[in-house]
Amino acid sequence: MKILLLGAGGREHALAWKLAQSPRCEHLFIAPGNAGTAALGTNVRLSLADFPAIGAFCQRESIGMVVVGPEQPLVDGIADYLQALGIPVIGPSRAAARLEGSKQFAKDFMQRYGIPTAQHASFSTHQIREAMEYIAAHPLPVVVKASGLAAGKGVVICQSREDAAAEALRMLDGSAFGAAGREVVIESFLEGIEVSVFVLTDGRDYVLLPPAKDYKRIGEGDTGPNTGGMGAVSPVPFADADLMARIEEQAIRPTLRGIQAEGLDYTGFIFFGFMISGGQPYLLEYNVRMGDPETEVVMPRLRSDLVELFEAALSGRLGGVQPDIDPRVCATVMMVSGGYPGAYDKGKAITGLEHADPDAMIFHAGTRLDDVLLLTDGGRVLACSAYGSSIPEAVSQALAQAGQIQFEGAYFRRDIGQDLMR
Ligand code: AMP
Ligand code: GLY
Repeated sequence: MKILLLGAGGREHALAWKLAQSPRCEHLFIAPGNAGTAALGTNVRLSLADFPAIGAFCQRESIGMVVVGPEQPLVDGIADYLQALGIPVIGPSRAAARLEGSKQFAKDFMQRYGIPTAQHASFSTHQIREAMEYIAAHPLPVVVKASGLAAGKGVVICQSREDAAAEALRMLDGSAFGAAGREVVIESFLEGIEVSVFVLTDGRDYVLLPPAKDYKRIGEGDTGPNTGGMGAVSPVPFADADLMARIEEQAIRPTLRGIQAEGLDYTGFIFFGFMISGGQPYLLEYNVRMGDPETEVVMPRLRSDLVELFEAALSGRLGGVQPDIDPRVCATVMMVSGGYPGAYDKGKAITGLEHADPDAMIFHAGTRLDDVLLLTDGGRVLACSAYGSSIPEAVSQALAQAGQIQFEGAYFRRDIGQDLMR
């Protein structure tokens, strides 16, 4: 079968790497892809906002399956659009993608199905006074969230009510995130440790993929501003059988019950972002896609054929499927451009990739080829993934790979996984 994968980051390179290994994959197209995916298939210049062009490409190339990497096209309804043309899609419908596209919808959904989450209230742009009153009476810290998609920047943890009021105002008046902020969720702060849990679902049954922990802050010791993710590790020692059983019981199964009860059309990944607080899992958010950089450690640990899993999901045969998981640890270290997550330059020459260990997996996050020259093309540039028999071993292998690669201004965190080694 011919497969079209949509997206351009490290997540998509890792998905492409896994898809291309399948004997069921006759040819892989990636749109728009990056320099890494170009080695695994054919990159196609298509805008992810141009659904008619994507549909026409699928029909011209007789694409048998479209796999959607990022959230924006899903929230915009790409799955509905392609399904109407008879093209099978891994990715939820627009209505189901509200689980990520509207935090207010997601929080109300969690409440309807009894899923433990932080206490919250939602306010829209004509409820500014109510929002201010709610903040004035809220214990500190207080978390203010833009309800819509805000490229990972829509969550602010406020240590004072003045800050919270100012942030909520900037969101509600549209100046912070435009339409995405005209609804806000204000919720209580949960202290704890985060874990990312992934399932592949056909809307009724699901297979559980390996959990991962990601490292969001730019600085070592989890300091400085948030990024898209600076590294990840899987498995996560504290996510033991007992915690995973509670996560399935209290969050995953109720979510699938809700998806069924509300008639949401969902074939694809669900990414559950949990805060484990006092030993109890609280669901912070849903994402309707895989995580990045979590995919760069989850895909290497999945031994099952991903195309077969997708085919099972598309035909509603996921019940009873047991994925085969590699027992080894996988860690990834993200190399980023100098200045990221603030302003940074693109177009720096990348060298040293030829020295990377052939067993390591160097996933491209933001790169492009200029003739034969490999250039940086984003804030996050390369995710260096490696296996190990323990977390320290996997991390040190990943760090060794990053250490071989150079580009001007390159930076990576050397403390990925440290908190899990104590
Ligand atoms: P979200 O997009 O909702 O996952 O939020 C992004 C990040 O903000 C999360 O990964 C957490 O690190 C943090 N966060 C969100 N909500 C809370 C909360 N209620 N308590 C503490 N941290 C939070
Ligand atoms: N690593 C977090 C995310 O993909 O949203």
